[in-house]
Amino acid sequence: MALRRPTRLPAFLLAGLFALLPACGKDIATEPEPPPPDLQRYALIPWPQRIEPRSGDFSIDEGTRVVLSEPVNAELQSIAALVTESLRAATGIEVPVALASGAEGTGNTIALRLSQEGEPASPEEYRLSVAPTGVILSANTPAGLFYGAQTLRQLIPLEGAGRAIPAVEIKDAPRFTYRGMHLDVGRHLFPVSFIKRYIDLLATYKINTFHWHLTEDQGWRIEIKRYPKLTQIGAYRKETRVGHAHQPPEVYDRTPYGGFYTQAEIREIVAYARQRYVTIIPEIEMPGHSRAALAAYPELACTAGPFTVATTWGVFDDIYCPKEETFQFLENVLAEVMDLFPGTYIHIGGDEAPKKRWEESPAAQAVIQREALKDEHELQSYFIRRIEKFLNAHGRRLIGWDEILEGGLAPTATVMAWRGMKRGMVAARQGHDVIMTPIDDLYFDLYQANPAGEPLAIGGFTDLREVYAFEPIPVELTAQQAKHILGAQGSVWTEYMKTPEHVEYMVFPRMLGLAEVVWSPREARNWDSFSRRVPAHLERLKARGVNYRAPQGP
Ligand code: ACM
Repeated sequence: MALRRPTRLPAFLLAGLFALLPACGKDIATEPEPPPPDLQRYALIPWPQRIEPRSGDFSIDEGTRVVLSEPVNAELQSIAALVTESLRAATGIEVPVALASGAEGTGNTIALRLSQEGEPASPEEYRLSVAPTGVILSANTPAGLFYGAQTLRQLIPLEGAGRAIPAVEIKDAPRFTYRGMHLDVGRHLFPVSFIKRYIDLLATYKINTFHWHLTEDQGWRIEIKRYPKLTQIGAYRKETRVGHAHQPPEVYDRTPYGGFYTQAEIREIVAYARQRYVTIIPEIEMPGHSRAALAAYPELACTAGPFTVATTWGVFDDIYCPKEETFQFLENVLAEVMDLFPGTYIHIGGDEAPKKRWEESPAAQAVIQREALKDEHELQSYFIRRIEKFLNAHGRRLIGWDEILEGGLAPTATVMAWRGMKRGMVAARQGHDVIMTPIDDLYFDLYQANPAGEPLAIGGFTDLREVYAFEPIPVELTAQQAKHILGAQGSVWTEYMKTPEHVEYMVFPRMLGLAEVVWSPREARNWDSFSRRVPAHLERLKARGVNYRAPQGP
């Protein structure tokens, strides 16, 4: 994100208008279920598919055991460790883990069971039964069990808040298969420890995809063994623009900035994410947002260079030239990327690629001639299709920002719709899978309150309530077309976020709203209910040291 401008008025200007409207959540609910009597007692986010409050509590004491049913494997043990850690944090009691003797659910036990019975509606489904006599958590898959454990963790009191888990019957499964959060580490990068913490926070809220934006004009952040200059040169900029890039004066901090993730660190993060059922989608930007790569390898550009790693924010004319050596380079880079990231999807960017250099380049024009393309937009489409073929040949699938629609969409591509819902709808109607992350609702780099009281941000406005009201499936789509909407994502561009604390401030609590949008049934979405559950989560985030923004702002 760079050229983005606020496309709507900030809400503080519209506050009067909003006051006249009914709560957004209430509009969404067609047949609202009666809210459970006590949202403090069941302060779950995201709200489960089915929940039946029960009276009484399960009390954790020195006799409590976590018991595992056969078959016991490493995944089950790791989920058990998660549960015992939550119990220890809340109560100080080290709850032992034992093999089940057949009497689960009674006798002061918390039973974890990977059952293979029946056809699950979703591989992420789970069932959780809390009774005064015992707890049973079961699922068909480790992922389901993991999500059930997240729900159980939210029912376990915070440290010092007692030892009682409220009785309840829950059957739960997600509404969408793609529940994503993005992070741009090109503009500013964050330590491995923070990337892990971010993944942990995502997993707590049942977000299952981390879209890791690894390359930018202002920095190349992933070690590629075959091209060492990408990080020797491309990972460092001379200095950084101070203040907002669109506002004078133009001042720079005269401080070199940079860094990157080694392949060993990336493998460590991928393994860490896998243990938390989070898939990482790496993004390697092309053909635009490639100034850092061109600074390292100027021969990949259409003009002679030299180029520098960008020091301000924006969209730059110098992009990869569609020459054979560029494709060779990108394929070699992607081969290393595929080796590091086992997930199906590879994101290749595709956004904000000015065509100026291609218009003026004999090499680019020769490709247009040779391939009988109409213009530079079709040339971009040719570029993306070539990369798509390469990824497909290696068993992977391509995702790109919605600009990849221009000049004709690559046949198996998934579209990430960011410039509004419309392009996502176009792609879904063409039978392509779509992920919604529209700038106006789900860009968490926008202001969440009156800018006068906020740290500098890119512009625009989207607060928790607006995120919560976001509906990924446009009403205009048929049921068949709607199946192509895989889910939605919060996007976090870091031009104006230099520290992990600032990232947390922009992400929380907005991510809580997103979590419910992508997980909970549409008819269960209710702003009044949600907003009464949020304070308990702010307490939990505070206990984890998360620098959230208090939502009751101006
Ligand atoms: C984008 O914000 N340029 C995808």
